[in-house]
Amino acid sequence: MTTIDRLSDDPGMSTAQSAADPLVELFADSPRHFAGSPLYARLGQVVAADERLLAIARHARSGQLPSNLLLASVHYLLLRDPAQELAAWYPSCGAGTATGDPGPAFTAFCLRRREEIVALMRRRLVQTNVVKRSAVLRLGMTVVASMTDEPVTLIEVGSSAGVHLRFDDYRYDLAGRTWGRASSAVVVSAEWRGEGPPPDLGPLPVIADRVGIDLNPIDARDPDERLWLRALIWPENTAQATLQDEALRAVAANPPRTYAGDAVDLLPEVVAGVPRGTPVVIFHSATRLHVPAERREAFDAAIAGAGREHDLFHLSFEASRDLGTQGFALELRRGGEPGRRLAIGHGHAEWISDSGEARPDVS
Ligand SMILES: C[S@@+](CC[C@H](N)C(=O)[O-])C[C@H]1O[C@@H](n2cnc3c(N)ncnc32)[C@H](O)[C@@H]1O
Repeated sequence: MTTIDRLSDDPGMSTAQSAADPLVELFADSPRHFAGSPLYARLGQVVAADERLLAIARHARSGQLPSNLLLASVHYLLLRDPAQELAAWYPSCGAGTATGDPGPAFTAFCLRRREEIVALMRRRLVQTNVVKRSAVLRLGMTVVASMTDEPVTLIEVGSSAGVHLRFDDYRYDLAGRTWGRASSAVVVSAEWRGEGPPPDLGPLPVIADRVGIDLNPIDARDPDERLWLRALIWPENTAQATLQDEALRAVAANPPRTYAGDAVDLLPEVVAGVPRGTPVVIFHSATRLHVPAERREAFDAAIAGAGREHDLFHLSFEASRDLGTQGFALELRRGGEPGRRLAIGHGHAEWISDSGEARPDVS
């Protein structure tokens, strides 16, 4: 059971703070959950110890991680107004020079701006569109190219702003080798941790069509939507933010076709629109874990259903129980055949490996 499942199922969500409260546990676990962000590691603990802040966090939409939503909502308000005292602890706000405990400034800000934070938490979703995951899509597409000569239709489920749907516009650096569009401003580099040489990231299949499905597609041309995506990135992670800006520019210049809604409902219709004889690649990353537990069977069935009329390549990059908290597995299933693990990687694709063994986390 994932943290989100535990949060949605626990009847104690509306009761007072207690050691058994999954929300308290979630925030208390911030040093691990936000490994790589000393600021969020600390702020999570501040929230875990303060019932007034926990009460704000309880407004997160069902199925959404309250810790990510609360911290992103505060971050969003600071990015819009970096003159706030609290912004001095945020490297993303141009400052990040403050020393000492950010807890008091954070608490005061949350209590003062409570209504705006709650409104954001009720409206927004955790939709971080991690550009580096395009590297695993590219790796998977290379394997697909080795299995079919036909042009394929690429469908991304949980496409957020659609940065992966433009994956073939980017340049890739892996273990000292490069692939893709050499002149691209979007340079995706990942560390190769495999035992052997890195995989080839080409050639790719011809892509006849590409389309995204998301509960809430983000319009890369809208500055406010881009700001929300920026707010979802941890404040210290300025390199990821810069990469995201570049990718969003590429997407905004050439927006992919995207449908709004639940993939369980939309996939059959979208797949029905693909010409007979065209293989379909359905890709999702960091999406299945956001599907409520009771909907996952239907989610899997909607994808498998595409194999009834088409040669289906199901590519997924999702958390896998055997890889611990930071490991994701890239898996490929063709039609009804058993899945094949192509690689494993850091959840944000900071590193990729061919081995099935989880590596110690890198921040
Ligand atoms: C954490 S984001 C990941 C975005 C992107 N796949 C990536 O790896 O960068 C998860 C995305 O999945 C979408 N999502 C979750 N459940 C969905 C569903 N049942 N149908 C369509 N989209 C869904 C969310 O709206 C969100 O944009």
